[in-house]
Amino acid sequence: MEKTVQLYEGKAKKVYATADETLCIVSYKDDATAFNGVKKGTIAGKGVVNNRMTNMLMQLLEQQGVPTHFVEEINERDTVVKRVKIVPLEVIIRNVSAGSFAKHYGVEEGIVFDEPTIEFSYKNDDLGDPLLNSYHALALKLATKEEIELIKKYSFKVNEVLKAYFLKLGVRLIDFKLEFGKLNDGTIVLADEISPDTCRFWDAKTGEKLDKDRFRRDMGGVEDAYKEIFKRVTTGE
Ligand code: TMP
Repeated sequence: MEKTVQLYEGKAKKVYATADETLCIVSYKDDATAFNGVKKGTIAGKGVVNNRMTNMLMQLLEQQGVPTHFVEEINERDTVVKRVKIVPLEVIIRNVSAGSFAKHYGVEEGIVFDEPTIEFSYKNDDLGDPLLNSYHALALKLATKEEIELIKKYSFKVNEVLKAYFLKLGVRLIDFKLEFGKLNDGTIVLADEISPDTCRFWDAKTGEKLDKDRFRRDMGGVEDAYKEIFKRVTTGE
């Protein structure tokens, strides 16, 4: 499978068409941004980690009954995926308080929730991805009621599968962001990526952050954190 024309360039990935109009190729970059693109940088090797980690996790999720866009990894940065129309909703699941939750509600990070939370934001860079609820999403016709219900069901399932998976690797899954896409026939599938860019991972023993917060917060050790989480995922320990 070969890339033809570039369809789209995002902050962390490029998307190319292929000769098969039902498939595209995503290509992961080392570029990193935060705060809606205000902070910019590069994280050496990030594209490789995020590509390979996303693909491993997508395959695990498929086995557990969550349909995904994953088709085939073609090299360390490029992957063939099903061509979808992205549902313009970012779905955030949280198990523990951190980031914008801690900030919005004036609580410290690290409070363990009895039940995971879900929230949506409208995927729109010009508006700064504003938070919205499912009624707003319906009013804006971003998805149907049935699609939103399915997206919620899949998102909680992803949480169950990934929380258990990472705990075995000595990692706490604090929160994460998902995006879904729609195939031509209307099927909803998990799309985008699942990586240290889009998840918070805390070492279960030391509490050390193994994700993009090290970049967002200028903590240093960014590349090493990506390497460490990748090592655990690939070696299974
Ligand atoms: P938040 O606490 O900043 O709202 O982030 C929640 C989770 O979502 C965290 O794991 C990082 C991820 N995230 C993204 O993947 N993309 C984004 O644009 C933002 C704001 C958060």
